[in-house]
Amino acid sequence: MLFPEGVAIDGKTGAVTPETGRYVKRLSELKGIYQDQAAFQRAVSDGNDPVAYEVIDYRNKESDLSFGTTIMAPGQVGGEYFMTRGHYHERPECGEAYYTQSGEGLLLLESRDGEVRTVEMKPGICAFIPPDWAHRSINTGKEKLVFVWFCATDAGHDYGEILTKGMRKIVVERDGRYAVIDNPAYTKASA
Ligand code: F6R
Ligand code: ZN
Repeated sequence: MLFPEGVAIDGKTGAVTPETGRYVKRLSELKGIYQDQAAFQRAVSDGNDPVAYEVIDYRNKESDLSFGTTIMAPGQVGGEYFMTRGHYHERPECGEAYYTQSGEGLLLLESRDGEVRTVEMKPGICAFIPPDWAHRSINTGKEKLVFVWFCATDAGHDYGEILTKGMRKIVVERDGRYAVIDNPAYTKASA
């Protein structure tokens, strides 16, 4: 039987207490999501293969609902900000919510039929991710971006399409702030 409990979430560090699991993504594990391969190799070697993001779970397979945190380091690869891999959920009926605790970022979303939307991530904003929209978070700030996510325990992750095709837009720094521009690689792949 499951019992209620209060889970402490540190909005600055993303620590979840108690936690049920965690993983780290180093930059080298994110090959292929950035445009500039040479810049990617440089960022991996010059930065000693930095941790790009970490995910901490509060998850129990007997419960329908899970939550946790994602902690994203600031950084760039060839002008693109550090980002997550991005995914659809395996179960298309499952949406999600991202509640930002600290830092600033952009949530980039894409529907199956090609609608693109962004939601700014900043403390106080809880982003609604509708079912069957791909979602990728991007740290556009100079500090850590920490957010709490809530979704169905068995929503699953489908990384394949975003990994092979990319997303229609990329997010780059222009004149000291973020700009959302067309992904040249995406256009080529689908032409
Ligand atoms: C779960 C979810 C987040 C992400 C995490 C890492 O459905 O959206 O927990 O999994 O922010 O991003 P990905 O999984 O795209 O590398
Ligand atoms: Zn998700």
